[in-house]
Amino acid sequence: MKYLSKEDITNKKVLLRCDFNVPVKDNKITDSSKIDKSLDTIKYLLDNKNTVIILSHFGRVKSEEDKENNSLRIVYEYLKNYLDLDFITDPTNLEKVNNSEKKCFLVENTRFTDVPVKRESKNDLELAKYWSNYADVFVIDAFASLHRIHSSTAGISKYLPTYLGFLVEKELTNLDNLINNKEHPFLVIMGGAKVDDKLNIIEGLLKKCDKLILTGGLLNTFLKVMGYNVGKSLVSTDAEVLNNVKKLINNYTDKIYYSTKFVVNRDDTVIALELDDIEDNDIIYDNLIELSDVMSDIKVVFLNGTSGKYEIDEYSRGTEKLLYDLKKSNAKVYVGGGDSVSSVINLGFKDAFTYLSSGGGATLEYVCDDKLDALEYIKENN
Ligand code: 3PG
Repeated sequence: MKYLSKEDITNKKVLLRCDFNVPVKDNKITDSSKIDKSLDTIKYLLDNKNTVIILSHFGRVKSEEDKENNSLRIVYEYLKNYLDLDFITDPTNLEKVNNSEKKCFLVENTRFTDVPVKRESKNDLELAKYWSNYADVFVIDAFASLHRIHSSTAGISKYLPTYLGFLVEKELTNLDNLINNKEHPFLVIMGGAKVDDKLNIIEGLLKKCDKLILTGGLLNTFLKVMGYNVGKSLVSTDAEVLNNVKKLINNYTDKIYYSTKFVVNRDDTVIALELDDIEDNDIIYDNLIELSDVMSDIKVVFLNGTSGKYEIDEYSRGTEKLLYDLKKSNAKVYVGGGDSVSSVINLGFKDAFTYLSSGGGATLEYVCDDKLDALEYIKENN
């Protein structure tokens, strides 16, 4: 793979794929870190007299109605604080690039091309070729999207010389340190809401780590399979998932840590002695006390997912305690996933850990499989 940092790209038209899929609440970007982290690459390209045409997806777009809530205009407004750029409102019409004084453009959500028929998400090569007609080179800075083989993350590399931007380089360097880590014990902490999406990853990581702590909503399904009543908590009902959870419990008894007793509220009052009453589970605190012991000798940690709804004060106790124990452990801690990174920042642990990755699914895929689908595609096709 070729890296932007090792090349001299000047006076070119550059298609730059970023991941500006940032969280938004009440029409405000609540965490701009993904955008901020790509500013180095954008500014470097502009400083070298290139014209920069930025592509990104934003949210999931399955219908005409979805377009209203998933416009990149909000990111354009944010970027205007740092860059002199223009907005291209139709991702299938880039003519403005040839008719404008500007040197920087943000193109509307690439996933708008998925309606009525999927193009971007199916890696439609006609679409990739159309975009590539407007540029001389392709630079990828969208680390968080590299688990997707889409027209804008992979397909364009068939038509243009392709380079990895500064953000992708930084992510790969840091995550390679984690993947190639020789220090043990290596602890993985998996949280978040749904188990269905993460089961393969959990299994993959169990093969690599020494200990695995399950927390957050996905723990419910494990508890249910072990025979506990988890009340109204979110659980998987998929028979195959339940069967696979059972296999994991049986095959990895010595590696998986979870609790079965009670949860506590922020003021340390017990809110459920049996699990029957739990609707929204904060971390299961009884085990967390033991987890401090689990963590006492660890050298390296990979954390993905939160322990309950950390953004609601009364349910943030578990996540906060977990982060506190991690900080105290002095282990090298790598954090992946949008919610995990937001919880680390919002709960005041921004500078406490080794590395905060900008990826969610991409980080999981890379740490678990040592590869990313889009990068593999680019290696084969560029
Ligand atoms: C992410 O937020 O993890 C990336 O932007 C990928 O988004 P996606 O899961 O909608 O493809």
